[in-house]
Amino acid sequence: MFRQKTLLLLILLSVQLSQAFPVPAQEMDTQVVQDYLEKFYQLPRRGLRSQRQNSPSVIVEKLKEMQRFFGLSETGKPDRQTLAVMRKPRCGVPDSGDFMLTPGNPKWEQTNLTYRIIKYTTQLSEADVEEAIKKAFQVWSNASSLTFTKTSQEEADIKIAFVQGDHGDNSPFDGPNGILAHAFQPGQGIGGDAHFDEDEIWTMNSSSYNLFLVAAHEFGHSLGLAHSTDPGALMYPNYAFRDPSTYTLPQDDINGIQAIYGPSNNPIQPTGPSTPTACDPRLTFDAITTLRGEILFFKDKYFWRRHPQLRLVELNFISLFWPSLPDGIQAAYEDVDEDLVFLFKGGQYWALNGYDIKQGYPRDISDYGFPSSVRAIDAAVYYRRKTYFFVNDQIWRYDNQRQSMEPGYPKAIASIFPGIETRVDAVLQQDHVFLFFSGPRYYAFDLGAHRVIRVDRSQRWLNCESQ
Ligand SMILES: *[C@@H]1O[C@H](CO)[C@@H](O)[C@H](O)[C@H]1NC(C)=O
Ligand SMILES: *[C@@H]1O[C@H](CO)[C@@H](O)[C@H](O)[C@H]1NC(C)=O
Ligand SMILES: *[C@@H]1O[C@H](CO)[C@@H](O)[C@H](O)[C@H]1NC(C)=O
Ligand SMILES: [Zn+2]
Ligand SMILES: [Zn+2]
Repeated sequence: MFRQKTLLLLILLSVQLSQAFPVPAQEMDTQVVQDYLEKFYQLPRRGLRSQRQNSPSVIVEKLKEMQRFFGLSETGKPDRQTLAVMRKPRCGVPDSGDFMLTPGNPKWEQTNLTYRIIKYTTQLSEADVEEAIKKAFQVWSNASSLTFTKTSQEEADIKIAFVQGDHGDNSPFDGPNGILAHAFQPGQGIGGDAHFDEDEIWTMNSSSYNLFLVAAHEFGHSLGLAHSTDPGALMYPNYAFRDPSTYTLPQDDINGIQAIYGPSNNPIQPTGPSTPTACDPRLTFDAITTLRGEILFFKDKYFWRRHPQLRLVELNFISLFWPSLPDGIQAAYEDVDEDLVFLFKGGQYWALNGYDIKQGYPRDISDYGFPSSVRAIDAAVYYRRKTYFFVNDQIWRYDNQRQSMEPGYPKAIASIFPGIETRVDAVLQQDHVFLFFSGPRYYAFDLGAHRVIRVDRSQRWLNCESQ
């Protein structure tokens, strides 16, 4: 009895103790920041650094450097956004300075390179690994005069291995997630070699982590490329899923490889997709919706995410959040009463619950009562239990309570919203205002006053004030 009580007391005590002295979240954040800056921004390692290097101002400067690289606000503080980026899976090669071995701008002198797979992963068949690796090299050979030949001879320019933890090159891997892989710049010996963390889950599909995508990135380093700040580039340090079957090398990476090795031998030079820039005055949107207070702006295979309080805008791949969604979402709205967001492309639509796609989608837009002549929707917006759909110069209104299209529709957009004379790309609702985005402008239509009260540049929404 007594012993039991003591035990209970001890348990209670230890519970109370652990509650009274949890590892403060701030301390864990400090650890994350320190590790990240040491690994990727050449912050002197703890224990090695001198008193002077130890000063907080060094950390602030390194933090700002990191924030500049990722296009975050340069606060010099480990704010929520910065920590979120630091926790993303990525490449182990630093974002600045010379990597590990070779200073300068090393390149291969010959263009006919060889590679050898020294150690396979146990998670994929050898045939799958070979296919992914071959295709990853093709990404670069297609855009340059380089050729890559697989060899089983001892001497190969680029040696490929799946390894775990400390593997003898002073750059240990870190177990699942975090650092996925790293590669060395061109050179003798270890130069050009690419290592993949065997503690990751390697796949041939959209689940983490697609070997072809990571390998294509690493081989960029093997050829002499450093990290790019373009979030759409293959050489961006963070992992982002893209459909391998339709993958084309982005323009930023084409420019990079051709700057080192010159143009491709192909008479028609390859071109690749360019990442949209928030401050391009010609910028237009495909679709816009709110999502639990955030605003999402869709454009091609990307979307910008505008945070409510932070006034911060972040560009993401659609496929990073929703691997099963297509690019080029055409319309979107948030049903705030059901707490769902709907996304449209062609005759299909998807429902999101938070950031999760609901089961049973995509569905057909005929659900809403559209005739088969309506093949796609330009824009959609939800207001007071009605959904407004915009198709060419017409508007349809769906009654969400009665779950049917309202009689009398479609009508001319201008007959309901005088002053909106053009086809619209996207509509956003804020309070009692509909914001009609059309080309590079938006029109704010006050539903009370029943007129356009403001016209401005669309890109203002992405914090572009001056252009
Ligand atoms: C690459 O080309 C050079 C010059 O043409 C040749 O000497 C060398 O043997 C070739 N190497 C391979 C691996 O084919
Ligand atoms: C390389 O180019 C060929 C021919 O144009 C194309 O079929 C192939 O899909 C391209 N591969 C990659 C990985 O870009
Ligand atoms: C991806 O492939 C793996 C097998 O390599 C399979 O277990 C997994 O379910 C697949 N995931 C998706 C999303 O298709
Ligand atoms: Zn990298
Ligand atoms: Zn290594």
